Amino acid sequence: MQKFQIAPSILSADFARLGEEVDQVLAAGADIVHFDVMDNHYVPNLTIGPMVCKALRDYGISAPIDVHLMVQPVDELIKMFIDAGATYITFHPEASQHLDRSLQLIKDGGCQAGLVFNPGTPLHAMDYVMDKLDMVLLMSVNPGFGGQKFIPGTLDKLREARQKIDASGRQIRLEIDGGVNIDNIRSIAEAGADTFVAGSAIFNTEDYQVTIEKMKAQLAL
Ligand code: DX5
Ligand code: ZN
Repeated sequence: MQKFQIAPSILSADFARLGEEVDQVLAAGADIVHFDVMDNHYVPNLTIGPMVCKALRDYGISAPIDVHLMVQPVDELIKMFIDAGATYITFHPEASQHLDRSLQLIKDGGCQAGLVFNPGTPLHAMDYVMDKLDMVLLMSVNPGFGGQKFIPGTLDKLREARQKIDASGRQIRLEIDGGVNIDNIRSIAEAGADTFVAGSAIFNTEDYQVTIEKMKAQLAL
C-alpha cells in the first residue's frame, strides 16, 4: 500500500480562476491535481483539454497532474497531454482499441500510466497489462459529472482490485473517483484505496484546508 494522497478534482473548481483555485487546494494540503477530460462522446459532457493543462504548468503549478481521460479514441490526446505536462494519464479500457499500445504510449512519453474502470466494467482488462500500470482508478459513479452519490458496491470492487495489485507485487496506486467525502473516505481506505479524488466535497466548501484536514484525519484513524 502506498502513502494516502488527496486528489481534488478541478471539475468542481471555479474555472474562471483556475490557477488560483489549484494553488489554494495545494496550499490546503492536496497532494495531486485531478484533471477531468470529457469529450461529449465517450461521456455526455465537455470539459478541458491539453491547453489548460499546459496553462497550469506555465502558471507555475509543479504538483503532479493526474489526467483522467474520458474520451474516445485516446491515443492522440495521450500524446498531447504528454507534451502539456501531465504526470499521470489514465483512460478507460473500452475507449482504446489497443490497450497495451495506449499504455506503452504513455510510458514512452515519460508519464505514469493507468486504467479506469466504470462501475459496471469488470477488472479483468488489467490482468495482462499489470507490468505497464502505475495506477488503477475505480469509478464510484458513472463518469461525466461531479456531485454524484458514491455507489456502495464499489467497496467490494476495491477489495478485489487491492488483491490483484498486492498479488502483482508492483507499486500501483489504487485511486477512487466519485462521491468521495469526509464521511465515507475512511471506509473507502479500509477497502484498499490509497488515492482519493474529491471534487464537490472540497471545492463546494468554504475552507479547503479544513476539509482536506478532516479527510486526512479520517485516514489517520
Ligand atoms: C466524474 C469525474 C470526477 C468528478 C468527481 O466523471 O471523473 O473526477 O469530478 O466529482 P465528485 O467528487 O463531486 O463526485
Ligand atoms: Zn475523474
